Amino acid sequence: MLQLSSDVTFNYEVLRVLAVSSYQGADVSEVLDAAGQIRPGDFESWYKQFSKAAERVHGIAKAVDSCKHPVSARNALFREATYWRSADFFLHGNWTDPRINELWVKHLAAFNKAIALLPVPGQRVTLQGDGFKIPAIFYGSGSKEPRPTVIMCNGYDGAQEELYHVMVEAVLQRGMNAITFEGPGQPTVRREQNLGFIPEWEKVVTPVVDYALGRKEVDAKSIALMGYSFGGYLAPRAAAFEHRLAAVIAIDGLYNFGEVMLHQVGPELTELWRQGNYTVVDETIKGLLANPKTPTPVRWGIGQGLWSFNTPSPSEWLNKTQAYTLDSVVDKIRCPVFVGDAENESFFPGEAKRLADKLGSRATHHLFTAEDGAGEHCQVGATQLMNQVSLDWLQDVGFRR
Ligand SMILES: *[C@@H]1O[C@H](CO)[C@@H](O)[C@H](O)[C@H]1NC(C)=O
Ligand SMILES: *[C@@H]1O[C@H](CO)[C@@H](O)[C@H](O)[C@H]1NC(C)=O
Ligand SMILES: *[C@@H]1O[C@H](CO)[C@@H](O)[C@H](O)[C@H]1NC(C)=O
Ligand SMILES: *[C@@H]1O[C@H](CO)[C@@H](O)[C@H](O)[C@H]1NC(C)=O
Repeated sequence: MLQLSSDVTFNYEVLRVLAVSSYQGADVSEVLDAAGQIRPGDFESWYKQFSKAAERVHGIAKAVDSCKHPVSARNALFREATYWRSADFFLHGNWTDPRINELWVKHLAAFNKAIALLPVPGQRVTLQGDGFKIPAIFYGSGSKEPRPTVIMCNGYDGAQEELYHVMVEAVLQRGMNAITFEGPGQPTVRREQNLGFIPEWEKVVTPVVDYALGRKEVDAKSIALMGYSFGGYLAPRAAAFEHRLAAVIAIDGLYNFGEVMLHQVGPELTELWRQGNYTVVDETIKGLLANPKTPTPVRWGIGQGLWSFNTPSPSEWLNKTQAYTLDSVVDKIRCPVFVGDAENESFFPGEAKRLADKLGSRATHHLFTAEDGAGEHCQVGATQLMNQVSLDWLQDVGFRR
């Protein structure tokens, strides 16, 4: 495949921004133009180019009369939101950076204006969790009859707004409703409520299912949960406890997140961490974070991990990640699970197959291949194919309108 940056993480993230073009989230050349001016591995330059693109598209959106031309306004607003969100992506290594909140306010403002201009406007709601609030968005199919509904959440770093362009629009095109939400650790909750990830993801999902059941547009027998990226762990975890879900889609499947994190920090640091030598673990990992020469996957991955788990201590972060395994709960999952897998998975290699094997007959394991252009983590760049395969599966297990 054509490489979009010599930096492996930048390459993936540029592809991820390009990918949302399939469903109104970007324009290809706007992204390529920004990407062409980014210095590989330079987080400031990434911020600068995407915020420049966002500012420019903000001007385009503002100049459109949204009463006269609602579709044009919506298109520009969705793109503007995407570029603000992208500008923020590599900034979480420094929690006091004011841009983390400033960019998010602009991102949400543009996105909210865009969904208000959908044929059936998206509706924001705030649901009450156990000790936290859950921001969610309901996207109706437009039908007055109860319809199947796909609830969805993002992962380690993604926003619920990104999911509009990943799967919501594809769900609406198939005549179903969609609901997106965020829980602790995810972008808006992390910022507004200062909360990191919690392992008991059912505590987030259950209020969303309650809310769905309260809407007349929702067919109570056909509620599915899709988890994207790290959500490929969170969704099956929630389904072990929330049995009103009739199906789960894991894009891609993830069985033991804690183990993957230890594998990524390597055997030496893992050994020191196991010995309880937290001083050395923290000094070493903080040193890697502060060094601009550290490879981007490591520097970004750790920075994002500390931020989203809301701890300044790398060893405490590693501690926390150990609770994220399906080992003791996988047998409690009752519904069918679509387990997506990627031939060139770079974040969680082998995990999807492992989840599918543990689920046995409850799983449909699907390997997306590089030959189909779908071999990357989460099939990024092959969103239409990902939706074809996973949503056809959903309809085939009974989600019919
Ligand atoms: C973090 O951001 C703040 C605010 O912009 C700045 O003053 C500080 O120097 C930054 N810290 C590091 C380590 O870059
Ligand atoms: C921690 O690890 C370092 C480096 O291996 C070692 O020198 C030190 O003695 C260890 N500290 C403890 C308390 O085990
Ligand atoms: C990690 O967990 C162990 C065992 O629960 C605990 O003793 C230790 O204090 C924790 N360390 C950190 C840095 O949170
Ligand atoms: C993707 O995986 C296939 C099968 O393992 C391998 O042949 C191919 O080289 C990989 N492609 C990339 C870009 O890593």
